[in-house]
Parts: sequence; C-alpha cells; structure tokens
Amino acid sequence: MKLLASTIATLVVSLPLSNANLNGLSGVRGQHAAKKTRKLQGNMGMRFDSAEEELAAMNEPFAESEEEDGPAESSEPLTPINISIQPAYHGIPVFLGIQMGWYEELGLDVNISVWDSGGPQVRAAAENDAWDFGVAGCNPNIIAGPLGISTVGISNDESTANVVVGGPGVTSLPSAGDELSEGMFAETPGSTGDLLMRECLFVLGIETDESNFFFGGQGDVIGALESGNSSYGALWAPNSYIYLEDNQDAVALCNGIDVGVTIPGGLMVRDEWAEENPDLAARALAVYLRGVTTMQNKAVRSEVLTYARAFYDYVGKEPSDQDIERDFLTRPTFNLDHLCSLMSRDFTNGGKSTIDTVYDIIAEFLADQGTIEGVQPTDEYLTDEYLQYISADADLRTYSYLGYHATPGDMN
Ligand SMILES: *[C@@H]1O[C@H](CO)[C@@H](O)[C@H](O)[C@H]1NC(C)=O
Ligand SMILES: *[C@@H]1O[C@H](CO)[C@@H](O)[C@H](O)[C@H]1NC(C)=O
Ligand SMILES: *[C@@H]1O[C@H](CO)[C@@H](O)[C@H](O)[C@H]1NC(C)=O
Repeated sequence: MKLLASTIATLVVSLPLSNANLNGLSGVRGQHAAKKTRKLQGNMGMRFDSAEEELAAMNEPFAESEEEDGPAESSEPLTPINISIQPAYHGIPVFLGIQMGWYEELGLDVNISVWDSGGPQVRAAAENDAWDFGVAGCNPNIIAGPLGISTVGISNDESTANVVVGGPGVTSLPSAGDELSEGMFAETPGSTGDLLMRECLFVLGIETDESNFFFGGQGDVIGALESGNSSYGALWAPNSYIYLEDNQDAVALCNGIDVGVTIPGGLMVRDEWAEENPDLAARALAVYLRGVTTMQNKAVRSEVLTYARAFYDYVGKEPSDQDIERDFLTRPTFNLDHLCSLMSRDFTNGGKSTIDTVYDIIAEFLADQGTIEGVQPTDEYLTDEYLQYISADADLRTYSYLGYHATPGDMN
C-alpha cells in the first residue's frame, strides 16, 4: 500500500488534474493488476454445483487455481470503456476497481475522466459521447434521461452529504419575507446542490428569482462564500467538509433529511453504447458493485480508507481522514440484491419502484421550480435491466459480492 500511495503522489504531480483524462493511472494499474488478475482467474472461472460449494469457494476468493475458463482470461484483448466520475465518495468504487485490477479481470480497459459536477459531465456524454458509464447525483441523472442516458443503479444515499452552508459568520437561514440580495445563494447548476438549495428555500417559504442566485462550480461557490459575495452556498462532500474545516466560524444549515427529501446518487450508461454492449455495461456495473461490497466490508475498512485517501490525493482534494471516514458512516451504499429490490417494479408496489418514487418527487419539484422542462416518466430512464443481467449470471453475481469476502492483506 505504501508503494501504491507514493506512485499515486508522483502521478498527481505529473498530470494536469482539472477534468483531466486520468488514463495515466494505467501504469499503476498495470503492475498492480497483474498479480490480482492471476490470483483471481480461477475463482471467476469456477462453476459451482451446489450452494455449499459456492459458499466454501467464496470464503477463499483469493485462492490460486489452475482453471482458466471464464470471463476473465488474461490473454483476451481488453475492451476499452470510458468511465466518468466526480471527485467524491461515489467515485471510490471505480478507483478501487482500477487500482485492484478488477476491470481487467472482467476484460475492460478503463479510461476515466473526472468532473467537478454533473451538469457538464452529462452534457459531455450527450453531445460528444465522452463516456459510456458515469457516476453522478440524482439531479444529473434526471437531466440525463431525455438526453439518451439511463440510470441503471444507485451509488449511495447522499441525503446528508449535501448541505447548505452559511458564509463565514452566517449562522442562520433567512426567513420568509427577508429582503434578498443579488447572488446571495451560491450553487452549482444541474447538481444535487442545486436541488437541495431550492428544497431548503422552498421549505422556508422563501421566494427567489434567478438574480438571487450565483451560479458556479464548487470552487466558485466556496469563493463566493469566503469573499462575502454570497451568504449561503450549496456544497457536497468532500467540498463541504473542506470548507467547514477551513472556515471554523461557518456552519452547515440545511441538508436533505432536514427538509424530508431523499437525495440518491445514480450510476448511468449512455444508451447507445449500453444497448449495443449490454455485457460490457453489466461487467462495468459488477465491478462497481464489488467496490461497494468491499467498502461495506468492515474487516478491510482501514485498507479501503487508505485507498480512499489515495483517491482524494489523486483527484486533488484534501478532506481530513476523519471526514473521509465520515462518508462511510453517513452515506448508505447498496449491494446487488438490495438494488434489485429498490428498483423492482412489481405487484407489491403497483409497478412503481422505491427509486421511481424518489426520482418522481425530485423531478416534479425541479419541474415546478422551472429547472427542468416537464417530468419524464421514470420507466423511460430508470432501469434495473443491467442489475437483472448480473443477477442472472452466476459469475457476475458472485463477482459483485466478492468484496464481502476480502480479508486484511488481500488489498495490499
Ligand atoms: C479518455 O477520456 C478522455 C476524456 O474524456 C478523452 O479525451 C480521451 O480521448 C480518452 N482516451 C481514450 C483512449 O479513449
Ligand atoms: C472514449 O472517448 C474517446 C474520446 O471521446 C473516443 O475517441 C473513444 O472512441 C471512446 N471509447 C469508447 C469505448 O467509447
Ligand atoms: C465578488 O463579486 C465581485 C463583484 O460582482 C466580483 O468581481 C468578484 O469576482 C466576486 N468574487 C468572488 C470570489 O466570487
């Protein structure tokens, strides 16, 4: 792990970082993956005849084996895939997948791009096919729907990770009827921060017009707060953590739980790509889910936190170790079967999944606010198709759960 962290530090120095192509990771990934891929070949290639055998084998997921049939033959040429993430908690499973060589095990050669926020991220895929698989918050997921990008899973519940903060010294929210000034609310358009800011103002009964908002990326929002240009700003983790750490007289004033709204993050695919390559889409999703089960596995938590630290160093953010860990405690993540259940449309829910309902509430609110034009039916952009694909494929299903069987030392 020491070696890995220092290699990453070197890369950070030598690469431009803003929205950068982080394909430079391939050097680290190559060395690191070789070992892991070899170790795991047999495991992925196994066919189990009974549940007991399967369980026994899964308890030794890292055992060497001579068997080589299976989806992860190292001699197969890798298929390129563009993946977009943000410098935030829900990017960690992708980072783990690259660092541990999991994408390669499933035949994928990943090129990642990192985006400060979801608005530009989604536009890049819609306009330039910039990525195939992407991770962003629910607001971008909703904006992406009519642009030919589907949400195929949920990355985490980030209801408390988004906060409206006060500027330094601003310790309370405005009240209905207060005079509002130009640009006093700073936020990133098309983001979950945008959603939360509007929800909080709505619940407080504050009527705004667009001139009361200052729009910018997360860095601009922090700049507007620190300069006193804006009194309130919407930030998400780790930006919120970093801002509050740097400004000890600033406080968080409102989050999703306060205003009774669930704010999930979603996993997206570009439809044109995924429909042509459903198997690749399912594999990319299975790697993400393995990242999730690894992050949920407390036995390897300290190693995973070291990777999380390396991830933030790499993307150029510096949350404290305590704040990195805080996300693990406050942002629920979901494994394959949990997601299948959350996204299931069946007789028990009248054909409307839990996630459909969450997204409908958000989309209706955004449409009322005029930030989106109309509400797209959820069955047009939310689908459990790729989760079901994984669920029905014994190898991919097992793969997605391997994180639960990792033990200390496996992640060196
Ligand atoms: C990798 O992604 C970046 C950013 O989206 C893009 O500019 C670059 O062309 C991609 N490289 C490959 C090999 O696909
Ligand atoms: C990845 O993105 C680059 C740049 O946009 C593009 O040239 C390449 O074809 C993409 N690859 C895939 C597999 O979509
Ligand atoms: C604050 O507002 C002024 C006047 O609009 C502007 O010139 C300046 O760039 C703003 N500063 C920040 C950090 O947003």
